Amino acid sequence: MLKRVGNRFNAQELWQKDHDHFLHPWTHFDSFKKEGSLIIAEAEGCYITDVNGKRYLDGLGGMWCVNVGYGRNEMAEAMAEQARLLPYANAFVDMSNAPAAELAAKLAEIAPGNLNRVAFSTSGSCANDTAIRLAHFYHARRGEPTRKNIISRHNSYHGSTYLAMSVGNRVGDRTPEFHYITDFIHHLSAPYPYRRPEGMSEDRFTDHLVDEFKAKIRELGAENIAAFIAEPIQGSGGVVVPPRDYLRRMAEVAKENGILFIADEVVTGFGRLGHWFASQDVFGVEPDMIVSAKGLTSGYLPLGATIFSDDIYEAISQPGHDVWFAHGFTYSGHPVCCAVANKNIEIIEREGLLDHARQVGDHFETRLRELSDLRLVGDVRGKRLMMCVEYVADKQTKAHLPEEINISKRISSLCGERGLLVRPLGHLDVMSPPLTLSLKQADFLVDTLRGAIEEVTRDLVKGGLLPALPRPFQRGGN
Ligand SMILES: Cc1ncc(COP(=O)(O)O)c(C=O)c1O
Repeated sequence: MLKRVGNRFNAQELWQKDHDHFLHPWTHFDSFKKEGSLIIAEAEGCYITDVNGKRYLDGLGGMWCVNVGYGRNEMAEAMAEQARLLPYANAFVDMSNAPAAELAAKLAEIAPGNLNRVAFSTSGSCANDTAIRLAHFYHARRGEPTRKNIISRHNSYHGSTYLAMSVGNRVGDRTPEFHYITDFIHHLSAPYPYRRPEGMSEDRFTDHLVDEFKAKIRELGAENIAAFIAEPIQGSGGVVVPPRDYLRRMAEVAKENGILFIADEVVTGFGRLGHWFASQDVFGVEPDMIVSAKGLTSGYLPLGATIFSDDIYEAISQPGHDVWFAHGFTYSGHPVCCAVANKNIEIIEREGLLDHARQVGDHFETRLRELSDLRLVGDVRGKRLMMCVEYVADKQTKAHLPEEINISKRISSLCGERGLLVRPLGHLDVMSPPLTLSLKQADFLVDTLRGAIEEVTRDLVKGGLLPALPRPFQRGGN
């Protein structure tokens, strides 16, 4: 039942308004026209409730972002207090405000190494755009203006502005109706161990990926390359955890060639993997820039941050008459958003949520890996509170099920009926619950997902869409 907002909603009327007027990110028109949206009314802790009063455990954490969980009064109060005091302040040229200054200093404290400088924006996309523009500006200021090329990877997702979408390259996002920047953006292979070439060891696969990077540098010339950008774990591209040593070796190659390493930690930052940032604490790499958003405010308000090194700052700020860093936004360093981020960080520290995420995340990861015994589960991967299950028709060949089965959606819909939201994404169901998830909630998540996979498998067999297995393989009813 709706607790906090009462029965304020006319569910049908809202559904219709949404259906008739709201163009959603990633609308699939055919199904949207028929089904419309699931409209959420309120949320508390790890649970969200729709306008009909149905409650779900939010296995997505909003969109990989509600790290401290929903319904935090002190977050709402921080917003209200700052809005009353100073709802907006221009941060152009030589103006600033207290929450932005505090937050920049705090980010410098928690970011690795000498990443002590911050440019604020309003989203992960804009923070990535900022990182790339900053890379160009940096090289030009150092006297290497030809360094314009950006090296990214297939499967990556860096956002949805024209630049960020061109830097990303996820299967399905490259629709022919849109246009992409192609002249200075290049994509290497995704470090996707599950689908690496048959018979190749993981170490050999890493060599292969590193060699590919070196070959690309030879082709373009190091003197023409500005930056290598990578999510430490590819998120929307399929929760792809790179092979051991991959990131460290790629970062080394970048450094040897004067190429900046931009770590897009929009998802992996702010505790999802049990640390403020994953680059150094999980993968042993110190990037030149970290891009952050989402968990930075736990999604309570939009905010992006591009955190970069003192070395970059020194280079861009060296004396030069009439040099302007002509980049930034009306809402850069927005005081209300920064106040919420400061409160969010305070909560994570005070409640020991990084520790908690490590503990509950390890439990969740271990339990979720148990699903590998199911017939349709080809791979369970991820780390701690950033996980996914990849479905296959055949574990040997790793062939996917036919698209029309829409396997991840079938399974996620059944989970929805049983009070759990997971995110269908191609042949995967993805999970990124709030860091506050309890062990019991982690178990509910895994058990509910298992039950849904088993039931969908039985239905597919019954409907003749999957062959029945000979008896000895039917253990577990799946
Ligand atoms: C790794 C990564 N970078 C950037 C973005 C873009 O962030 P936003 O949607 O806030 O623009 C996302 C969004 O999911 C992301 O996952």
